[in-house]
This record gives sequence, C-alpha cells and structure tokens, in this order.
Amino acid sequence: MKIITVGALKGGVGKTNFTFNLAGYLSIKENKKILLIDLDPQGNLTQCLQLDVFESLAMNMFINQGKNIKELILKTEINNLDIVPTNIGMSSLEVKLFNEISRETKLMKYINKNKDYLSNKYDYILIDTNPSLNITNINAYAVADSIILVSDNSVHSLRALDIVGNMWEQISLDLEIDNNIKAVILNNFDTFSISKDFIKEIKESNLKTITIPQEIRKKQVFKASEITGIPVIKILKKDENPYFNIVDELEQKGVL
Ligand SMILES: Nc1ncnc2c1ncn2[C@@H]1O[C@H](COP(=O)(O)OP(=O)(O)OP(=O)(O)O)[C@@H](O)[C@H]1O
Ligand SMILES: [Mg+2]
Repeated sequence: MKIITVGALKGGVGKTNFTFNLAGYLSIKENKKILLIDLDPQGNLTQCLQLDVFESLAMNMFINQGKNIKELILKTEINNLDIVPTNIGMSSLEVKLFNEISRETKLMKYINKNKDYLSNKYDYILIDTNPSLNITNINAYAVADSIILVSDNSVHSLRALDIVGNMWEQISLDLEIDNNIKAVILNNFDTFSISKDFIKEIKESNLKTITIPQEIRKKQVFKASEITGIPVIKILKKDENPYFNIVDELEQKGVL
C-alpha cells in the first residue's frame, strides 16, 4: 500500500479534481483498491463522491486515536473506492492540535497503528489537502510515500510551487524524513500563449525533473465530473484522456 498526498499552497488549482479523477482511474481502469482521505474542511472531495456528512470523520484520525478505523471509512458508489470524509467541522482541528505533543505526526501514528488492516484492504491511500502548509497538511505530507503537487498556469501558482518546495525541504529535514515531493501536475491549461510560456518556465526551473509533461487541459468535462460524481475515465476515450499518460509517467517515475 502506498500513500499519496496531493497538495499545493495555491487554492483552486485543481487538487481535488485531480485526486478524484486519479482515484477514479486507478479504481475503474486498473482495478486498484483505494482509500481517499479528505483533509480539507471545505469537504470538496467528500462532495465529489456525492456524500454529505454531519461530522468530520477524518478529524478522528488526529484527535481520537483510539477510534476504530472501520468506523471512519464510508463506501462510495464507485467499486473499490472508499473514503474517510470530512466537513466544515474540521476547521477546529488546527486549534486542537496546537498544544499537542508530536502534533505533526498524528496522522502517521494513526495510520501506522492501523497499517495491517489498511494494507490488507487497499493498494493506495490518496489524501486531498487544503491550500496551505498548516499542521493538518504537514501531517498529510509527512505520512506520504509521494507528494504530488498541482499547478495551474498562473504565475502565482508557479511562485507557490517554489515556496512550498523550499518550505518542505526545511520541514522534512526537521522531521528527519526524506523530501518526498515527487511530481508536479499541470492542470487547467489552455491553448493560449501563456500556457506555453509557463511550460517553458517550468522546463527551465529546478522542477523540470519531476514535472509530468502531459498537462490536463481546461475542459468542462473535468468540472462536470465533480458535479456528477462520474470520473472522466468513464467519459473520455483514451486519446482524449490525459490520465492514461499521466498515470504511466507517475508509475515509471515510481511516484505511484
Ligand atoms: N482541468 C480542468 N478543467 C476545467 N475545470 C477545472 C479543471 N480542473 C479543475 N477545474 C475546476 O476548477 C475549480 C477548482 O478546482 P478544485 O476544487 O479541484 O481546486 P482545489 O485546488 O482543490 O481548490 P481548493 O484549494 O479550494 O481546495 C473547480 O470548479 C473545478 O471544477
Ligand atoms: Mg480542493
């Protein structure tokens, strides 16, 4: 079982959309067993799976560590795809964690405690995060085998990639773990020249070795996927669906 965390400092770049469609691809196309963990109090990933919960089950993984993991996992309408959902109640987690000992590794501790159950049941845990490097997200980054960052084609997003890269380098040193940022996904690209300039900029930066060359275009079908809860693997044919190349590349690079 591999743990993959999807992140970005910048909001609205497509973290949740990517997490949802990657999970859809891996479960539907590759028949892999996936557990999603929604760590954004906005609960957008939970909503993509057409679920609405009255409490944040994900929050228990941090502050209620005696809780049985089976009570936190919900099945979704997609085969092989389960989720630990959340909702806005999770926004109190940061304050609750503040004075805790080893607050950055709470999630790691809970997952390790339940490793036997989880690794028998799932091939991947995919974690969606909120756009920050708060304590919750540091937990999500620290527990990951691979962190995948998502960027759109804005200069703010490019700057944010650089910032999160440098910050995580320092934090991972402090936590005595390997720097596990392994890939950058380019999402929401159009055919205008700014996208081409952006790709050129990335290719000349220190991100070039980990950037996945196949970008995801800006298309209504990606937006629609989160409204209907139907991942794009069920809608787009192979030659129109960037996830075939993206997953190939992520597998080749050892990210997945
Ligand atoms: N490739 C795409 N084409 C068209 N629309 C997209 C694409 N990717 C994402 N979107 C849309 O952009 C918006 C933001 O995407 P999403 O919610 O996935 O971003 P996010 O990074 O998770 O945001 P947040 O930082 O708030 O968690 C959504 O409305 C989504 O439908
Ligand atoms: Mg999101």
